[in-house]
Amino acid sequence: MGTYVLPELDYAYDALEPHISAEIMELHHSKHHAAYVAGANAALEKLAAAREAGTIGAAVTHLSKDLAFHLGGHTNHSLFWKNLAPQAGGTPTGELLAAIERDFGSFAAFQAHFNAAALGLQGSGWAVLAYDKVGQQLVVEQMTDQQGNLSIDLVPLLLLDMWEHAFYLQYKNVKADYVQAVWNVFNWDEVAARFAAATA
Ligand SMILES: [Fe+2]
Repeated sequence: MGTYVLPELDYAYDALEPHISAEIMELHHSKHHAAYVAGANAALEKLAAAREAGTIGAAVTHLSKDLAFHLGGHTNHSLFWKNLAPQAGGTPTGELLAAIERDFGSFAAFQAHFNAAALGLQGSGWAVLAYDKVGQQLVVEQMTDQQGNLSIDLVPLLLLDMWEHAFYLQYKNVKADYVQAVWNVFNWDEVAARFAAATA
């Protein structure tokens, strides 16, 4: 059975300053993300134990929710760390920019849509730029918690963590300043590589 492992970051905890503080990054990675990894592993172990014990019928609903939530937390954060980089930001280029302009009208219109999705979330969740393989187009969706409110055939390209643990120590209640700052550390090379793989 596979066991999930907390991935190393590609950069130091203070590498995204001043946009995201080292204190946030360290807690977010070493405590919050680590807890999702532990939760996903625990859910898998409990499901296996329930299968062996013949109690899967009583356990499956609760443990399925646990697995979706914690594995969602693990996969979301693993992607999010790659979506960020020091000395990044700016705007995408090439085929990704062309697709954004085709599907949202302009980069500015996409940016406004993505920011609105992030700031409009009720409770904890994520803003998501994804490639919809059915419609063969880019879409923005709002993910609730770590796994809710999403179409299943999306390939995620860019995620923004809007849980309070992602910004509160630095930005307090002013979510809009966090959402504005994070555009300075979005790693468009990595988003473009994910887009190329999704459309290949
Ligand atoms: Fe998070």
